[in-house]
Amino acid sequence: MPFVASDISPRIGARIEADKATLTSGAKAAEIRELLELRGVLVFPQIDFTDEEQLVFSKTLGDIVSLGEKGIYKVTLDSKVTPTAEYLRGTVLWHIDGFSDDLPARGSILSARKISAIGGQTEFSNTYAAYDDLPEARKRELEHVRVVHTMAASQRDVFANAPAEMRERWASYPPKVHPLVWTHQSGRKSLVLGSSADWIEGMDEAEGRALLAELQQWTTQPKFVYRHEWTVGDTVIWDNCGTMHRVEPYPDDSGRMMHRTTLAGEEPIAGAAVGA
Ligand code: OGA
Ligand code: MN
Repeated sequence: MPFVASDISPRIGARIEADKATLTSGAKAAEIRELLELRGVLVFPQIDFTDEEQLVFSKTLGDIVSLGEKGIYKVTLDSKVTPTAEYLRGTVLWHIDGFSDDLPARGSILSARKISAIGGQTEFSNTYAAYDDLPEARKRELEHVRVVHTMAASQRDVFANAPAEMRERWASYPPKVHPLVWTHQSGRKSLVLGSSADWIEGMDEAEGRALLAELQQWTTQPKFVYRHEWTVGDTVIWDNCGTMHRVEPYPDDSGRMMHRTTLAGEEPIAGAAVGA
């Protein structure tokens, strides 16, 4: 039963060499879940899953969200294939998936079916490691900071000249407030940032945005980032509770096609108790 995991860099990523039968059997599911949380992103080079195999594998890791056809969500900029193609343009910005969900997705499993000749690499940043490396005084200052996340913030930088109706649509999504620092049930802490982070509660808007930008820059330093250069057949899993991700821009007509399964959320984003 081959299964060899090796770290990609000190702060993020592991590559797993395994065969399909081992992965779909669930025999290593507990180990994979543990590695996912520790390493943030797991790469299965050219595992060549069919949709069916990807579904079986995904279900060994948790409950899956019924997105797309039978749980397979097609990530493409082709609006004939995916009704949310427009929304997916926002994936070029660092983000977490489902910022407005009460239980953010545990993670996602993405397989490359067709890659773009230009761009299309996916980057992941470890938000546990970024928190851990903050100076202690900074950690204390940030402890009770609350951030307002909005759909508008997650989209406006990719639609610079958005028409009024598009802006109205963004505004129709209620804002969601999250603590900046997520204290997980495990006791570990991570930063909750990304393009949806719009302003900081109770802080001057410009000052709050400057702080968010500074932290975003901190978190996406090369030492916390893994950049995946896709080969057709690769599968990558990210921990949506301890990483942010983004894709390098790629042409609309590149044909890039990724098949995604999504693991249901298991834990709400929670901050430290006031006074703790
Ligand atoms: C996503 C996403 C990135 C990519 O599916 O949530 O951000 O590389 N995808 O397509
Ligand atoms: Mn995403």
